Amino acid sequence: MTAPALPAIGAPLSRVDGRLKVTGGANYAADWRPDGLAYAYQVQSTIANGRITAIDTAAALREDGVIAVLTHENAPRVKAHASNPNDRSLHVLQDDVIEYDRQPIALVVADTFARAKYAASLVRASYAAAAPRTRFAQGEHYSPREVHGEPADTLRGDPDAALHASPVRVDAIYTTPVEHHNPMEPHATIAMWHGDQLKVYDATQGVLAARARIAGVFGLPLDSVQVIDSFTGGGFGTKGSTWAHTILAAMAAKAVGRPVQLAMWRPQMWGGVGFRPATRQHVALGAKRDGTLEVQIHETLSQTSMFDEFVEPSGTITTMLYASPALRVTQELTRLNYGTPTYMRAPGESTGSFALESAMDELAYALAIDPIQLRLRNYAEVDPTKNIPFSSKSLRACYERGASAFAWNDRTPAPRSMRDGRYLIGMGMASSTYPTNRSAASSGYEIRPDGTAIFRAMGVDIGTGAYTTFTMIAAETLGLPIDRVRYELGNSDYPPAPVAGGSQLTASLGSATRMAALEARTRLIALAVADTRSPLHALDPADVGIVDGRVIALATPARGETVAGLLARNGATPLTGVVSAAPGDEKKAYSMHAFGAQFAMVRVDPDLGTVRVVKQVGAFASGRIINAKTARSQYLGGMTFGLGMALLEISRPDDRTGRFMNANLGEYLVPVQADIGAMEAILVEEDDPHVNPIGAKGIGEIGIVGAAAAIANAVYHATGKRIRDLPITPDKLVS
Ligand code: MOS
Repeated sequence: MTAPALPAIGAPLSRVDGRLKVTGGANYAADWRPDGLAYAYQVQSTIANGRITAIDTAAALREDGVIAVLTHENAPRVKAHASNPNDRSLHVLQDDVIEYDRQPIALVVADTFARAKYAASLVRASYAAAAPRTRFAQGEHYSPREVHGEPADTLRGDPDAALHASPVRVDAIYTTPVEHHNPMEPHATIAMWHGDQLKVYDATQGVLAARARIAGVFGLPLDSVQVIDSFTGGGFGTKGSTWAHTILAAMAAKAVGRPVQLAMWRPQMWGGVGFRPATRQHVALGAKRDGTLEVQIHETLSQTSMFDEFVEPSGTITTMLYASPALRVTQELTRLNYGTPTYMRAPGESTGSFALESAMDELAYALAIDPIQLRLRNYAEVDPTKNIPFSSKSLRACYERGASAFAWNDRTPAPRSMRDGRYLIGMGMASSTYPTNRSAASSGYEIRPDGTAIFRAMGVDIGTGAYTTFTMIAAETLGLPIDRVRYELGNSDYPPAPVAGGSQLTASLGSATRMAALEARTRLIALAVADTRSPLHALDPADVGIVDGRVIALATPARGETVAGLLARNGATPLTGVVSAAPGDEKKAYSMHAFGAQFAMVRVDPDLGTVRVVKQVGAFASGRIINAKTARSQYLGGMTFGLGMALLEISRPDDRTGRFMNANLGEYLVPVQADIGAMEAILVEEDDPHVNPIGAKGIGEIGIVGAAAAIANAVYHATGKRIRDLPITPDKLVS
């Protein structure tokens, strides 16, 4: 028989690394203390466009403890331009050109962090400054050739004619602002050289890509670079690329001949480590009077930097969420004097769903149809653009389960019709979806003679619970108790696994882990039946299993022996192997997406315009759930992110200078516990035999998709005011 199937919704196991984290035993990148460690601090530009005419480091160099100051005048030359579209071009002290505010212009290295930071304040730069380009209206708009491997634009039918002919229309502009990721752990790197070998502790979402990027910049072979990231304090996309500070740390370590730590100060993260770009989105929907969509138009504009290209693919969601005979999606860019934007939790889907799902809500009011009914009327039974079936789609069940838990039927449809004393109450909903991604991954196993197992892979646990879920997959497949299996992650010397981004790590490495554990299990059983001294000798392997650390005859479980006993008798050496698993052609046959439904109830103070989110319910179907507890945490985290997007988060630019004015957690508001009302995430069971060997679709990002629209729709229902520009701050409701 084959190994037992994984459960549809796995046990709510607490984190296997939880104790280590809460006792301070988990080393994050900046926590390592190699001998001779020196500390670097960045000096960042105070203009967004121009040139450095002079840079004076003398005062810094005179300070006690200062070891070196790197500037563009003395830094080593490296290959900082990106050739791979997933890498970012970097400003790493190669020239005097300034293209965004808070660009690194010098690096001070000292014997303590405090001395480095103080000396950095003494570096004086003179500039020839030019006016920065900071507004969408200033730059030319252009269409990128492609958007993350897909065409930027999609056209079906004659959208303009279809819109003109539609009896009911919605046509509006929606905007979303620049947001910054703000993981708890700011970016940090420790770099050290041993001859031409470079070892880097880096706060990153993926050591595989980080190793390749670092090796490329310094012109080193891959095996000369080791990247380690055992624990990461959140990423949300900002740690999905290698940025300047990582390269600068390695440059400095080379220059001073000792290990160098570069930990970023939070305000410095409003410079060159990416952000969610601002978007301006035109959405036009045309429908028949019964609500059937005739046409969807979604034209988006977002920003990239002067020197690199990143596209926020806000329109992509509209190509697959609802069916309509006519459709136009365009995605344009303009170049501004800010750093290069990057992936931020559900890049594209989060911003795009705000526009599309707000417009669908507007259409529901225009038609006087219930918002869920409108979505059901336009339910896409197959992928409307690719014209292929979905591998699985449980969106109907999500609407039903979510609506019932939220008590959607208590809602009275008219705006301003629900009250709680002097407060206005509103209920809103939105659809949610996120693509199912997967990359090649490998998992190494080592079954030890003591009956324990160690698995290893490059994947990084960015706080999601990856250590726990991969340990569960290995233990459940292999038949070992969970406390006898350890998973080691985050080291580029381990078998390759992709970045923890695009919600793909569980699908990718989970599949490899499942296959690695199956291989180890098969080998153990083969060893037992071939061993004349085993009680299982000569049994058909199909009649043998492994349960709770014992190899047993399935028909008579008392007949068997421990894995430890079996291995001890057979050379007492570990059983080792590496198994790779890669996606095949399944994406050609099936469109693969997770789906969900978001619901929000708000209470608005009609005099002050303040919005409280009283209740959020999200129902998500994302294929197999490995661990109900960590999965629920991902969903709740995503919904919290969505609340931040709806009501709080905005990096406020000074359009004259190109500087973000609120570069700190005092003025850039992220939701805290007190902002959250009742919150429920429903795990909708879903079996998907097509996506990958473990049937998991990924859960890290879908929780944010649609959450902001559900809240904005609830605010409209409460107040009768349609806010199309995020975040929904009190001024917009009282004006
Ligand atoms: Mo995610 S924005 O792919 O880290």
